[in-house]
Amino acid sequence: MGMVGQLNHRGLAELAKVYGGLCHLKVGQVHMVAVSTADMARQVLQAQDNIFSNRPATIAISYLTYDRADMAFAHYGPFWRQMRKICVTKVFSRKRAESWASVREEISSLIKTIDSKVGSPVNIGEIVLGLTKNITYRAAFGSMSQEGQGEFVKIMQEFSKLFGAFNIGDFIPWLGWIHGQEFHKRLARARGSLDGFIDKIIDDHINKKNNKNCKDDDFVEVEDDMVDELMEFYDENGAKDDQKSSISITRDNIKALIMDVMFGGIETVASAIEWAMAELMRDAPSPPSDPPPPPRDGPDTVVDGYKIPAKARVMINAWAIGRDESAWTEPNTFKPSRFLDNGAPDFKGSNFEFIPFGSGRRSCPGMQLGLYGMELAVAHLCHSFNWELPNGMKPNEVDMNDLFGLTAPRAVQLVAIPSHRLNFPLF
Ligand code: HEM
Repeated sequence: MGMVGQLNHRGLAELAKVYGGLCHLKVGQVHMVAVSTADMARQVLQAQDNIFSNRPATIAISYLTYDRADMAFAHYGPFWRQMRKICVTKVFSRKRAESWASVREEISSLIKTIDSKVGSPVNIGEIVLGLTKNITYRAAFGSMSQEGQGEFVKIMQEFSKLFGAFNIGDFIPWLGWIHGQEFHKRLARARGSLDGFIDKIIDDHINKKNNKNCKDDDFVEVEDDMVDELMEFYDENGAKDDQKSSISITRDNIKALIMDVMFGGIETVASAIEWAMAELMRDAPSPPSDPPPPPRDGPDTVVDGYKIPAKARVMINAWAIGRDESAWTEPNTFKPSRFLDNGAPDFKGSNFEFIPFGSGRRSCPGMQLGLYGMELAVAHLCHSFNWELPNGMKPNEVDMNDLFGLTAPRAVQLVAIPSHRLNFPLF
């Protein structure tokens, strides 16, 4: 228990140097296994993908996902498969033109904002987080509810704190009473705020759908958002409707899935854009930061000759794997050209030296959408402006420390001064 503070991506990478790519820890009554090399990741995510296809959930995660009514924490099985199918074919799909259009429009509006600030310091971390919030919020709820964004961001911030809060009951269940009651009240308040917020949005969507069906003369066509896509499968009792499809989802599923999209799609993409910009501005390059992925668990099994107990939290340390000296030459150097070499590993999940989106059946379903936003944003920021560091800061003085979290975000947000790069007006 004394080591809990060190069990982050960096601390676990240090342990791997001493104990190897598979390292077993026991925290309270919980078994944890850290996976820190490409070979071990291949054994867990490829050879035994069917075994490690669940994710462990803390007390807070179970409660805030309406008892795993979402996709990210749903137990592997028919329900998860259905949720994933809805997301991949409907919600995150390339065919859902609205999501992709909102990426382009929001990036264009970001460039306009920066254009009006040319010559003065711009907090890149803050503006790209604003960008991905706008993209995801709009893709999820459409433009009909933009005005509630501030309230929704507050709800998300509280969810995020609760997801990360240390709760002794997760490690030693019989000590759960210590902060249990207070913690549970806070969880109930947070979920209550989300209910209040999304129930209204769902009701608005039901009305919108009814209006559409009535084909009222006054009806104005509004573009479909993710809630509209999900409403197609909505049934308050979760009953089957064989005439439409065999999939049906409740309000709780819609709420929990929307939160998956918010947590999966906002900080991940913003953090990747900010790290890329920071690396490009440095002249003493360091490696890019990969997110430590959410953990997996499964029944009793054996990996590389070692017994992994049932329900052990298996943490795939993508951060350490991407810096493994046995897999990479100069792992600590930011050298994008290495990916141009013949046979260089790609990031899609079959080369285990580099798995920023995970691998196997639980790998990231939002990869294409995330990459599109990231690539388009970085390309626009670099094409439209030259960037200089503020207050005479030298490129090798840029702070490259990270914080522990879902996406290993930058410890200090990146600030830089834009100037026009092109010799014609942008707008
Ligand atoms: C740069 C952007 C992104 C990165 C680096 C990233 C990374 C990841 C990783 C590492 C996982 C766990 C994979 C595993 O266990 O093997 C994951 C899962 C997931 N991601 Fe992403 N992600 C990104 C963007 C997105 C976006 C844009 C969305 C949604 C719009 C999204 C939604 C999800 C969901 C729902 C899961 C859980 C899937 C499941 O358990 O079946 N992600 N992501």
